[in-house]
Amino acid sequence: MTIQKIYIVGSGQMGSGIAQVAIQAGYQVTISDVQESFVEKAKANIKKKLARLVEKGKLTKEDQETSVARLTTSINLNDAKDADLVIEAIVENEKIKGEVFQKLDEICKEEAILASNTSSISITQIAANTKRPDKVIGMHFFNPVPVMKLLEITRGLSTSDKTLKIAEEVGQKVGKVTIVSKDSPGFIVNRLLDPMLNEAVYLLDEGVATVDDIDKGMIYGCNHPMGPLALTDLIGLDVLLAVMEVLYQEYGDPKYRPCPLLRRMVKAGKLGKKSGEGFYKYD
Ligand code: 3HC
Repeated sequence: MTIQKIYIVGSGQMGSGIAQVAIQAGYQVTISDVQESFVEKAKANIKKKLARLVEKGKLTKEDQETSVARLTTSINLNDAKDADLVIEAIVENEKIKGEVFQKLDEICKEEAILASNTSSISITQIAANTKRPDKVIGMHFFNPVPVMKLLEITRGLSTSDKTLKIAEEVGQKVGKVTIVSKDSPGFIVNRLLDPMLNEAVYLLDEGVATVDDIDKGMIYGCNHPMGPLALTDLIGLDVLLAVMEVLYQEYGDPKYRPCPLLRRMVKAGKLGKKSGEGFYKYD
């Protein structure tokens, strides 16, 4: 099957980023959410990002216009009925994702592939909400999607070779390097990255060093493009907490215990860049 129409569930930073790279790659994309104002905001953001690329000479005016013309919005999941591929990028909550996949399974055509951008939830578990587990797969993009080169693909227990091949082809068409992981908690990247970010929060909580010095340590000592606390702000403290909860629960190893400060900050609504404050403050 050739993928032409992609329906994206969730218009947050990940959903918008995926929509942007997909329209630029030539796909017909519908970005959806639960409120008109959310999808309109996402569309305006994508347009702004494309306009910046034109200003920088990285995209022609013509490509900008054809890309924007490929983007539509939706606040009704039933609009996914014509999609060849659905990519879900909503909140990291197993129950909510399960409900969405159950609905998508009923709405979407038989041959459609259902992908999740989950960073931590089991693809096998998500697929169990459908009658097409062979066509359910993890397509985990990285933030900011237009900049980060990786697409981490996860096979659930029943994901078919054909579904994997299609996901890899889509990944390559949107300009990503693809890697494949078994359905294991944290997959590859988050199992490596998130314990390090969580440890940075422990350093802060224990008063070992300041935010600035923790971040400088990894920027200047390890050549990371940004420090772990700034990166946590970018990803979202709630997202890091959700991944650490899954790692801790699934492996039962204390090394994955979410830092209490991370929990407190999430409770206080300090979610990072998206809420205006995390370890740093944002305009
Ligand atoms: N959207 C689109 N483009 C963006 C962007 C965004 N949100 N943020 C930055 N860019 C672009 C800029 O326009 C610029 O493009 P140019 O070179 O064409 O001018 C380029 O990226 C570099 O940006 P800046 O000069 O403003 O800033 P930096 O050089 O500091 O780069 C960064 C910013 C790309 C975010 C860099 O710091 C970086 O790579 N950080 C690490 C990000 C990372 O690790 N992401 C993975 C997180 S893990 C994850 O997402 C998984 C999840 O499951 C938790």
